[in-house]
Amino acid sequence: AGACGVVPEAWRFDCYPERGVVVTRELCEARNCCFIPASSSSAPGRNGVPWCFYPPGFPSYSLVSVKATELGQTGTLVKTVKTYYPKDILTLHLELLYETDHRLRITDPSESRFEVPIAVPKTTEKASSPAYSVELSNEPFGIIVKRTSTGAVLLNTTVAPLFYCDQFLQLSSSLSSQYIYGLGEHRSSFLHDIHWNTLTMWARDVPPTELTNLYGAHPFYLAMEEGGTGTAHGFFLLNSNAMDVALQPGPAITWRTIGGILDFYVFLGPDPASVIGQYLEVVGYPTMPVYWALGYHLCRWGYGSSNATWDVVKNMRNYGIPQDVQWNDIDYMDRSLDFTFDPAAFSTLPDMVKDLHSHGQRYVMMLDPGISSVQPEGGYWPYDEGLRRGVFINHTDGSTLIGKVWPGLTAFPDFSDDVTHEWWYDNLKRFHDKVPFDGLWIDMNEPSSFVDGSTVGCPDTELENPPYTPGILGGLLRAKTLCASAVQKTSSHYNMHSLYGLLEAKASACALKRMLGKRAFVISRSTFPSQGQYSGHWLGDNRSHWKDMYTSIAGMLTFNLLGVPLVGADVCGFSEQTEEELCVRWTQLGAFYPFTRNHNPQDPPAFSPLARSAMKQSLLLRYSLFPLLYTLFHRAHTHGHTVARPLLFPKDVRTYGIDRQFLWGKSLIVTPVLDPGVDFVVGYFPQGLWYDYYTGDSIRSKGEELRLKAPLEHINLHLREGAVIPTQVNRQTIDRQPLHLVSSLSEDGSAGGELFWDDGETIDTLETDQYAHIVFTVVKVRSDHYRPVRSHSVHCGEVTTVVKEWFYRY
Ligand code: GLC
Repeated sequence: AGACGVVPEAWRFDCYPERGVVVTRELCEARNCCFIPASSSSAPGRNGVPWCFYPPGFPSYSLVSVKATELGQTGTLVKTVKTYYPKDILTLHLELLYETDHRLRITDPSESRFEVPIAVPKTTEKASSPAYSVELSNEPFGIIVKRTSTGAVLLNTTVAPLFYCDQFLQLSSSLSSQYIYGLGEHRSSFLHDIHWNTLTMWARDVPPTELTNLYGAHPFYLAMEEGGTGTAHGFFLLNSNAMDVALQPGPAITWRTIGGILDFYVFLGPDPASVIGQYLEVVGYPTMPVYWALGYHLCRWGYGSSNATWDVVKNMRNYGIPQDVQWNDIDYMDRSLDFTFDPAAFSTLPDMVKDLHSHGQRYVMMLDPGISSVQPEGGYWPYDEGLRRGVFINHTDGSTLIGKVWPGLTAFPDFSDDVTHEWWYDNLKRFHDKVPFDGLWIDMNEPSSFVDGSTVGCPDTELENPPYTPGILGGLLRAKTLCASAVQKTSSHYNMHSLYGLLEAKASACALKRMLGKRAFVISRSTFPSQGQYSGHWLGDNRSHWKDMYTSIAGMLTFNLLGVPLVGADVCGFSEQTEEELCVRWTQLGAFYPFTRNHNPQDPPAFSPLARSAMKQSLLLRYSLFPLLYTLFHRAHTHGHTVARPLLFPKDVRTYGIDRQFLWGKSLIVTPVLDPGVDFVVGYFPQGLWYDYYTGDSIRSKGEELRLKAPLEHINLHLREGAVIPTQVNRQTIDRQPLHLVSSLSEDGSAGGELFWDDGETIDTLETDQYAHIVFTVVKVRSDHYRPVRSHSVHCGEVTTVVKEWFYRY
């Protein structure tokens, strides 16, 4: 008890994380752990000081040998005392790979266990002057990683015992600070609360709710280090199994996963943008979107007919409100069957799509992965052919696993199998011959099922009932999805579950490219690291509430740092009734989501003239900024930069928690109104000179909060000193317009910026040299011109010397 008493509350690592168990002294001591009921009256377990925690000296592994290798070090770990979970792996191999000066990988080189099937870089040369140093502690085993320049400890795994059982792997570490970001997908503030906050990852269909696993799983965090140095680092656990990530005030973190291996990376930054870039070097840079993806998208569940859908488009045109893309939800389908359309209510769908195309607009429709399994034989090609080719996920006995989605009973394609990709392509092609769609909305791909496991339940196996189940909603792995034991080509669903959305997006993007010969447009609900290579994401089934509008900013920023920059929330809210004021404010904010889609019965023409005109204005503003937005996407694609970026100025700690404002790139700050009934908004402006985007008036901020006017039709935008941003005359659809430059001079009269420009749809224009990249520099404007210069005269015709001939087509 003495040893237990010395462990400070903030450093108590949970020895009894099981949910739904009242932890008694007996249960706790049976695990050889310390039992001290917390001083507060809070219940034990989740989100409080653990009552049952590891004593100092709890048995762990010892490092018994270590040797230098070409790329780093290898070592052997052994453990003699078994833990309280079955199947301890008592001998482990450790491999340290000094991959680059800013990237360290620590992995388990044995090949007998499941590993996430995504491609990561293979290094052949050891980093020559790493920004990190590694110390290994032998007894108990632990890894300590430090930043060489400051001595900051970025990782120290000696703080709690290491577990490596077949279905329970646990690694704890101290954190360098309380400033932790990432760890999607969760609904929370952008800066995570580290006060006993457990974030569970396991893809799940549920409206965004705090402290609940949501649609995607992203075991990556970005950390700002303590001490005002402004340095940042990152950590990525390459693991797809159900897991808990427990944050505690130590500050410390525990990764608790139920399969796979411990394979992780530390990224040294040293600034936050570099950390993100280094992470994306591992999982892949986001794809360059097709230009029209930037436009305004309209969608609704329940237009009810193609004519009703078409009317909305016509209405938008009549009011001159920009719209590039019209979508349909499941109601376009014949009885919710994928690759069909309702022959009665949607009989004019092909004509509508033709009409969209003739107006330079696009069409996107939904597909769900569940394929109806109960149509008369010979009557539904996707299922019949899928069965014939063996594309569906099976039970362990080889029978097709049947669940339930919108069309009723369904089978689920196994996208981990190339045969399925080919079948998916064939289906898309057959449907495209009837309805020439331009992009895909892939939903319900957690995968979601309305019955737990399958219509016949799941077998009682170790995969279904692991010794430990992370804090997933519903308490069971199979809750609202397939049996964990289900068989996929690559591995069991237990291992593959959270990869479903990634692999479906990959199949969809590849099929679209092959079919259309252009960049693919795919928006997916479920996501996993490397998703940005194939699709964007929307934040799921939010509500028409002011709070949902606010939390969408954190969601958007988090997905940007996870490498999925094409992201946005359902503008005006998905469920419940929106209100006019909310919808106006949301359309303004949504005009600055990298992906902006209004989903549900709340299109701009549905509102009063005043609201309509405010919405139209904000969309026209967005359209005028396309050249900037497109250039930012190019930066994301080529350098792993963020498009929507947190207002996180490394040297200014006051910015670390800001998630009511954000930036586009490094210069354009957006300060939306997030509350009802106000005509002003308070925003923080980091030290420096900021220009009102509309008037050019300058603010010289000392690093302070400022109150800004914000009448209903206005969204505050400010340009940071020293920027040149490319813009264009706004128009109703995306067809290109004369370009303009807006520049905001810094104190010394200088500014800079760039434009990336190409035809907007050809694949790999960069690689095939079919683009223009123009860099703008303003140097020393005379002192009597020390004002923002809005240069409306710099037409693209005047940059003839630097652009290529084909450029003028736009
Ligand atoms: C899911 C989607 C939502 C869609 C609905 C019907 O809830 O997240 O966007 O409208 O299914 O398809």
